[in-house]
Amino acid sequence: MARKYFIAGNWKMHNNTSETSELLNAIKQNFKNINEAEVLVAPSFTSLQTASKILEGTQILIASQDCHYEDTGAFTSAVSPVQVKEFASHVILGHSERRSVFGDTDDTINKKLKSVLLHQLKPILCIGETLEQRESGKTLEVLKGQLDGGLAGLQAQDLETLIIAYEPVWAIGTGKTASPQQAQETHEQVRTHLATMFGQDFADKTQILYGGSVNPENVDNLMAQPDIDGALVGGKSLDAESFLRIINFEVK
Ligand code: PGA
Repeated sequence: MARKYFIAGNWKMHNNTSETSELLNAIKQNFKNINEAEVLVAPSFTSLQTASKILEGTQILIASQDCHYEDTGAFTSAVSPVQVKEFASHVILGHSERRSVFGDTDDTINKKLKSVLLHQLKPILCIGETLEQRESGKTLEVLKGQLDGGLAGLQAQDLETLIIAYEPVWAIGTGKTASPQQAQETHEQVRTHLATMFGQDFADKTQILYGGSVNPENVDNLMAQPDIDGALVGGKSLDAESFLRIINFEVK
């Protein structure tokens, strides 16, 4: 089944509003999209409004990097899906930095995911193993646990907009990418597990992105793998030229 490619830039805690304008205008001016990929950027909360103004009328989508599961209330510093929805179509959930730095668990991610769906936002659920887990042969067990926990209580029909991002923690921001073969093998295992959970049709149509040190040099070989449907790009999404080259990867 043909799945569309999806290239997303996760800006993390970078860029104020003027830097956001500068970067997005540079991307917009030189935008081409030879693979007809879905393209998305995820700026900080403080730049979402700026981004939505600049990207209005373009093909480029916007995500927030997280959100709370409640709609409103006494949750100092949190941002709700209702607030995010003013500016974004997607929400990244369960990024490894959210899990390791802010203590997000599969259970809180599951609550957030349900809330995001309730508000017709589209979730990008991140999963990934640490180096220690990979070296001790636990990769698949960890990923299955994150999928089972993050998607608990949901059915295939609830998850039509779900996107999965497989990001090995040891490859994030380290310059160490999983080899295309390593990534393909894991993507295939993730897809197989999705089929067990929600059926083969669901697994065949769900986009699974790879993340972790994706750059203009390694993107072509990664995207050539049959189960890799796109990329979640951190560092290299902060530079217009690099990000545009990643969007316009070339599968030979
Ligand atoms: P990186 O980050 O591309 O800088 O490794 C990826 C991510 O954390 O989403």
